[in-house]
Amino acid sequence: MNRYRAMAENNAAPGAVPPDVESLSAELAAMREQVQQLEKMASIGQLLAGITHEINNPLGFIQSNLMSLSKYANDILNLLAAYEVLERDEGAMTDCLSRISQLKQEMDYEYLRDDLGDLVKESLQGIVRIQTIIKDMKTFSRPNETKWGQADLNEALDRILNIIHNETKYRIQVHKEYGALPKVECSISQLDQVFLNILINAVHAIDGEGQIRISTRQHSADKVLVEIADTGKGISKEHIDRIFEPFFTTKERGKGTGLGLSLSFGIIKNHKGTIEVESTPGVGTCFRITLPVTRQPTDENI
Ligand SMILES: Nc1ncnc2c1ncn2[C@@H]1O[C@H](COP(=O)(O)OP(=O)(O)OP(=O)(O)O)[C@@H](O)[C@H]1O
Ligand SMILES: [Mg+2]
Repeated sequence: MNRYRAMAENNAAPGAVPPDVESLSAELAAMREQVQQLEKMASIGQLLAGITHEINNPLGFIQSNLMSLSKYANDILNLLAAYEVLERDEGAMTDCLSRISQLKQEMDYEYLRDDLGDLVKESLQGIVRIQTIIKDMKTFSRPNETKWGQADLNEALDRILNIIHNETKYRIQVHKEYGALPKVECSISQLDQVFLNILINAVHAIDGEGQIRISTRQHSADKVLVEIADTGKGISKEHIDRIFEPFFTTKERGKGTGLGLSLSFGIIKNHKGTIEVESTPGVGTCFRITLPVTRQPTDENI
């Protein structure tokens, strides 16, 4: 089995750094941030058609539900009008009652009564679904903050799964095996990008139907583990040593720039974590990421 292991090294630079090197490294950090942001926008661009579909779908049924609801409201008002005649003129009881039962039959009152609640419930769920997609998109596409904070990685994975739902729903079964995780001190906007890239790579690797398994757990007292495994085509012996190289891609033009894993590697390294991959051609691939729960001192400030 081909197995590639990539690990962040803890090589803090000894002594003071000359100022010109310092400004160069700040410039480099800014450029790296820009590249990360561009890659993120490129992924969103690629996903946009699917995301639009995900929003359009609930919008479609909400619109059709509202049309039914408006007809139901009309029917109910007509029915009430018939009752109102009764209120005004008790003598007309027999006529009114037969008019009422005729109206009830015409509007299929029993069905309407059941459907009314369902339509409202379904529409509200549709609206929540759209709100979630928009919220997740907003969180994901915000400018690349390198802000550090406490984040729930299970929530982050769910957020990314929502964004790529349209890519997975018809052909890929996603198994979530989330363990209880402590909040992790990290730059979550950067980790989002790592998860998105690995998940999109997994989707691309699966031709037709397949499975993706995402498992998270506390790895040791001060580390968490995230594993993303797919049943895709796997990575060949010739390629596995190159996948973390910038611009290495086996995808056709327009489908990949080859920057995803190299940026992911940089991000994990910056978090003093590790990223490893294990792949068997024809069987699948598993990415394994460990991250320290609390921020570790770093020699770079990105
Ligand atoms: N889960 C996977 N299964 C099979 N091959 C993979 C998988 N993940 C990565 N690869 C291989 O590694 C290459 C590099 O991945 P990387 O994410 O860096 O770039 P990309 O996906 O090609 O382009 P980008 O991420 O910039 O859109 C891919 O082109 C693919 O050949
Ligand atoms: Mg990629």
